[in-house]
Amino acid sequence: MATYLTEPRSVAILGVRACDDATLFSVVDLTDGDRLAGEALLWGIDLHNRTAHLGISLLPEFRGRALGADVARVLCHYGFALRGLNRLQVDTLADNVAMIRAATGVGFVKEGVLRRATWVDGDFLDEVVKSTGDGHLATFEDPVRGVYPSGPGGTCRLRSGGSAKPPYIDS
Ligand SMILES: CC(C)(COP(=O)(O)OP(=O)(O)OC[C@H]1O[C@@H](n2cnc3c(N)ncnc32)[C@H](O)[C@@H]1OP(=O)(O)O)[C@@H](O)C(=O)NCCC(=O)NCCS
Repeated sequence: MATYLTEPRSVAILGVRACDDATLFSVVDLTDGDRLAGEALLWGIDLHNRTAHLGISLLPEFRGRALGADVARVLCHYGFALRGLNRLQVDTLADNVAMIRAATGVGFVKEGVLRRATWVDGDFLDEVVKSTGDGHLATFEDPVRGVYPSGPGGTCRLRSGGSAKPPYIDS
């Protein structure tokens, strides 16, 4: 599978496994000796409705350095441009400030709170749902190619003028 990079290069996500409804990646920190920084995935990929969910888990020493937001950007690029998805969603515990802020920084908007939706350590906790949502693709900022316009059918197209083979994809 391919490797997807941010530009300027801070993180790479390396495809490690793809199955019907999920794609798993290793996250590599390109600013620090190309070390394994964690894992990321698109899960719940629904090719009929063209939706999926983002998941990111960085090793503790790599947290708080804006890598999470960069990984989210690359996952969005993978989901929109490579897989042709139309809506991406983040579901996280309501107290996960880092994930909520990382998603906000990338352009996700809050859609609501699922009350007591997650069982954690003997308690039901609230979950926040954020998404690229209705029309947000129109202003979705890609770190490399700029803004993704969204067609009438919701198809995501790269901005005109892009090269046929994006230079930041190493296959
Ligand atoms: C959640 C996670 C992916 C975020 O990535 P990160 O690289 O640590 O976060 P970033 O450095 O990009 O920070 C994003 C924002 O959150 C803030 N932030 C980071 N850690 C924080 C913390 N512990 N408390 C409060 N704010 C925090 C940053 O200041 C930044 O805010 P800004 O965008 O306003 O500047 C990462 O911390 C992680 O893997 N955590 C453990 C697993 C997890 O919770 N995954 C999400 C499950 S859905």
